[in-house]
Amino acid sequence: MACSCRIWKIMDPSSVLLPLWAYFLCALTCADAAGFIHSSPLRLRQLTRANAVSTATGRSEAAIGWGNPDGVTLREVTDNVWEANRPFLWNTIDVGSRMVLIRLKDGSLWAHSPVNLDIPTRAEVDALGPVKHIVSPNFEHLKYGPLWGQAYPDAVTYGCPGLMAREPWCMQEVANDPPDSWLDEFECCFIDCEQNPFTRKSFFNEVVFFHKPSKTLITSDFYWNYPSTSPSRPIPQSTRLWKFGMDRVYLPFYKRLMITDKGRFNELVERVLGWRAERIIPCHGSIVEGRDACEAEIRRQTGLTD
Ligand SMILES: [Fe+2]
Repeated sequence: MACSCRIWKIMDPSSVLLPLWAYFLCALTCADAAGFIHSSPLRLRQLTRANAVSTATGRSEAAIGWGNPDGVTLREVTDNVWEANRPFLWNTIDVGSRMVLIRLKDGSLWAHSPVNLDIPTRAEVDALGPVKHIVSPNFEHLKYGPLWGQAYPDAVTYGCPGLMAREPWCMQEVANDPPDSWLDEFECCFIDCEQNPFTRKSFFNEVVFFHKPSKTLITSDFYWNYPSTSPSRPIPQSTRLWKFGMDRVYLPFYKRLMITDKGRFNELVERVLGWRAERIIPCHGSIVEGRDACEAEIRRQTGLTD
């Protein structure tokens, strides 16, 4: 029961965090990340909602949420880089999600963690160029990968290591070496030293990406940045509670119990820092701008100090 002992060392039994602990531990113990979210009936509700499109405005009503108060379908972040910010319901909590869309020098589009391909989204994506690369970066951010694969049969569907064995639609895995078709525009880093401490199986198996021309680091669950406030749309209480749980409960749990080799993890973080990103676009939360801010954020969240 060494595992349980370690849990109690980092957990005050009298803490008000107990219900949150139970919540996270239940999620980790009872469900594989991909299967958990994939199989929930709530996913079906989300799909239904995501397909709601305003024909009057041509705008996706499903895009409106605390992370995207104006319901913008695609927003240009910088040259050849766009984001699609969408609500994402985990049970009834809007945890937010963001796709990153990048146009390579040959004009092809690279889509990371795709969002639902509703009518307005498809129209705006198609106006930017042909989709050729569809990336599911970890075991969790793959919900719309097969939909995009079907919609764009000329594209390759990429996944993190281990995804091809789980998902038959995944055509190629990427770890630390980007494929030639990405035209030397990316660096990749496979976070290969984390696992579910109860099942001893890989949990996220995430690959983080760096787009060299824009100096942009792209993360899914390796780094998140939930805001405390939103300028024009209140953040729901449940989302704020989620942020608290992620920052104060899950993060220490991840660092203390899910990282299997701290030395290796620090090595990987150093590699990511070596890219000297000037922007972080996370799938969850606010974009970080500025090289110093990016480095400070990665060091803060990973616990890597100078
Ligand atoms: Fe996520």
